[in-house]
Amino acid sequence: MRVFRVAVLKGDGIGPETVSEALRVLKKVEEIFGVTFHFEEGLIGGEAIDKKGDPLPDETLDLCKRSDAVLLGAVGGPKWDDLPTEKRPEKGLLRIRKELDLYANLRPAKVWEPLIDASPLKPEVVKGTDMVVVRELTGDLYYGEPRGVFEEKGVRVGINTMRYTEEEIRRVVRKAFEVARRRRRKLTSVDKSNVLEVSRLWREVVEEERKNFPEVEVEHLYVDNCAMQMVRRPTDFDVIVTSNMFGDILSDEAGVVVGSLGMLPSASLGDKHALYEPVHGSAPDIAGKGIANPIATILSASMMLRFSFGLSEASDLVEKAVERTLEEGWRTPDIYSEGCKKVGTKEMTDRIIENMERLRDEVA
Ligand code: IPM
Ligand code: MG
Repeated sequence: MRVFRVAVLKGDGIGPETVSEALRVLKKVEEIFGVTFHFEEGLIGGEAIDKKGDPLPDETLDLCKRSDAVLLGAVGGPKWDDLPTEKRPEKGLLRIRKELDLYANLRPAKVWEPLIDASPLKPEVVKGTDMVVVRELTGDLYYGEPRGVFEEKGVRVGINTMRYTEEEIRRVVRKAFEVARRRRRKLTSVDKSNVLEVSRLWREVVEEERKNFPEVEVEHLYVDNCAMQMVRRPTDFDVIVTSNMFGDILSDEAGVVVGSLGMLPSASLGDKHALYEPVHGSAPDIAGKGIANPIATILSASMMLRFSFGLSEASDLVEKAVERTLEEGWRTPDIYSEGCKKVGTKEMTDRIIENMERLRDEVA
């Protein structure tokens, strides 16, 4: 029997609630597919600050390094908002990305037909949208040196550095080509090469790499133009590859184009490690109320099945069960619309698990 070791970092706010539900889905996967997951929990974010004085304690990092994959909830909350940047829960997130060298962040954004009205765009514009933003995650302004606020001749100056080596660009671009090859074979590379040298290098590397992937169509867009095209013609995008800062912004935009943040999963991949987490944050305002949407975390777990464990049948089953559950009209409050059936976090998961059983019987 295959055993997969999963580090479970529930984090803050709604993180513990949604991750617990994703674990129930994974237990159903064990039952149906005859695999075994070994879950081990670790502290991260605000809870880790409270208990260990560090948003990413060493023991958590060790746990992640000896696991086959990491499933994370969310970090942060008002309680820790006044701490300096270095000590904030978000720092735990930035450090774990760097320490595990998770350089490629995949953020799929697709329209779920039953939720098409949740998009702020007209249904005829957004119908059929299905894209993945591949965001570089360990470089750029987020980590570049020098950084800080300094004083020059009695005036304060804030500095961050946009920096990429060609190898850092190449490895994420390759990952994006590989993703595109398994999808609709279109890659949009996003930069600001009309202004930035870093972007000129980015574009050169994409051009070099495209020779290795002749079956993939490549387009280059400036980031401002991309932001515009994404709302004008979202269905034209398949895979988007871009730097850390641009990707942070564009992946939020892609998320809102397709509707609810509560539905968006993500995978952060390196060569040795992988981490899966919902795109949404810790939503402290609804934490503990049992109403959070568990689907983004469940879909993140589903990405883990596919990318880390090669269990694509199991991953397909989870995704189909989510789709069926939405078709049946079950909604958590964040995606509720009139005429649908409102349920909480646990009940939504119950419905999804029931549908996993039913769909398994249908194909069997
Ligand atoms: C994200 C978030 C993070 C980022 C923050 C919380 C540090 O916005 O994952 O997109 O900027 O990367
Ligand atoms: Mg962001």
